[in-house]
Amino acid sequence: MTSTDPGTTAAPRPLIRAARTEDLAGVGGIREHAIRTSTGLWTDELPTPAQLEAWFREHLERGAMLVAVDPALEGPEAVLGYASYGPLVPKNGYRFTAENSVYLRPEAQGRGLGTALLGALLDLCREHGMHSVVALVEAGNTASIRLHERFGFVEAGRLVEAGWKFDRWWDLVHLQLRL
Ligand SMILES: CC(C)(COP(=O)(O)OP(=O)(O)OC[C@H]1O[C@@H](n2cnc3c(N)ncnc32)[C@H](O)[C@@H]1OP(=O)(O)O)[C@@H](O)C(=O)NCCC(=O)NCCS
Repeated sequence: MTSTDPGTTAAPRPLIRAARTEDLAGVGGIREHAIRTSTGLWTDELPTPAQLEAWFREHLERGAMLVAVDPALEGPEAVLGYASYGPLVPKNGYRFTAENSVYLRPEAQGRGLGTALLGALLDLCREHGMHSVVALVEAGNTASIRLHERFGFVEAGRLVEAGWKFDRWWDLVHLQLRL
């Protein structure tokens, strides 16, 4: 369990810890917002409550999700962001190659929390024996690309017009870090 200073305000420090069952609504809300408003997740289909819970539980069972929580808040709003990983491809030959995700509430972005979460997630990936981590990022998502580059991720490929959302094509950058 670690705490981190996300910025220069005097607010209580967010705490980064393993996700727990009670974080489902907070994580689900962040994910739903990203699906509705961003190109972070290339889908416009919201998961049903059952699908969301299955996805969440699967990560909890693998110990593959961290959350950043504001200790001064309660309920779903206390979850400021999450970071998780899963297999890049669901075939056992890829079991040492993780694909990672980092998502923050809009009001928690741009003050270092993504850096804190990704740093903790990479430590977790090392503990779990991962060999490399891959981020699949929309080519115009400068914040995410900068975030990953900070940790040494390098571009390993670019797919032009690989995604369709909000009535237009999007390019996909593959970033990779060998742990
Ligand atoms: C991407 C995200 C996780 C980054 O986390 P963050 O806490 O906002 O980023 P940090 O404050 O830790 O900054 C990390 C780097 O990104 C840069 N950055 C942050 N916000 C930025 C922005 N809006 N535009 C450009 N660069 C930005 C920072 O300057 C820093 O780079 P530096 O090391 O060169 O200074 C967060 O913005 C987010 O949740 N975005 C929406 C969801 C998303 O796109 N997730 C990733 C999907 S692949």
